[in-house]
This record gives sequence, structure tokens and C-alpha cells, in this order.
Amino acid sequence: MASWVVSTNAGTIDLGWSAPATRVDAATARQSILSQHERLRALLARAVAVAEAALDGHPPSDDAVASAIADVRTTIEVHLAFEEKVLLPLLRDDLPLGPERADRLLDEHARQRQTLATLHREASAFPTFPTLAAKLAFLAAWLLADMAEEEHSLLTPDAVRDDVVVIDQSSG
Ligand SMILES: [Fe+2]
Ligand SMILES: [Fe+2]
Repeated sequence: MASWVVSTNAGTIDLGWSAPATRVDAATARQSILSQHERLRALLARAVAVAEAALDGHPPSDDAVASAIADVRTTIEVHLAFEEKVLLPLLRDDLPLGPERADRLLDEHARQRQTLATLHREASAFPTFPTLAAKLAFLAAWLLADMAEEEHSLLTPDAVRDDVVVIDQSSG
């Protein structure tokens, strides 16, 4: 697959995968999301470094925190859309637990989109507001924890799997 490059204020970030036009198998879905998580961890580590420098009174530039917030939002938005594109078809078909997992994923993503949008709006309106740095640090920690949880509970061969046809052999 072609690489998926996102432009941000800090340059381009290569997420490694383009949104697949057709359905991908479960192993490919898990693998591509895990590799995006690795890239997101690097991005979030840079965001934390910017936030900490700003909290210490030495931001790399006046708008460094606001710009890191915009970058995190842009990149995470791409990631959430990618996850939905590859995971939802697999989960929706996987009865009985898959549809519930799909709903949970969408709920979690809605919360993330809303939090990112709110903070981004604040950062755009008041780019030098002092509390932004602490909020960015909190955002990064929250997103990192969510990725770890997602890997633990969702991105496993048990939860994301190809069509499993269960044949009920009881003759009743
Ligand atoms: Fe997610
Ligand atoms: Fe994720």
C-alpha cells in the first residue's frame, strides 16, 4: 500500500498506510494500526517535550504549544478514520461480540474527536495561553494510555479476526 503522509506544522508525518479502498484481512488491519501507533507514540513524545519545555518557561517558540496541539489533532484524526475504515467491517460481521466492540470504538473515538476539537479551538483562539501546555501534556498522556488500552483489549487475534463460521453441531 502507498504510504499515507500527513502534513503538519512540524513537517510531514508518514503514517505508513493509505486508507485501503477495499476490505483488509484482520492480520493486516491489526498490523497496520500497530505500526501507526508506533509513529503516534513518537509524535506524542515530541508533543510532551514541547509541553514540558513550555511549562519550564522555555517553549521552543511562542506558538510551539498551539502548533503541537494542531499537529496532534490532524494526525490523530487521520488515525481514527483509518481505524474505523479497517476495523468496523471486521467487527460488525463478528457476532456476537464484534458489534459491541465496534460501538465502543466509535464512542471512544467520538470522545477523542471532541476533546481534540475543543483544545484545538482554544489553541487557535489563544495560542499563547499559559494553561495550554499543561492541557497538551494531559492530552498526550491520555492518548498514549488509550493506545495501550486499545492494543491490550482490541488489537488482538481474539477481538479482531476474520470471519469465523461457527457451526452448531448439536442436533437439538
Ligand atoms: Fe482508536
Ligand atoms: Fe488507535
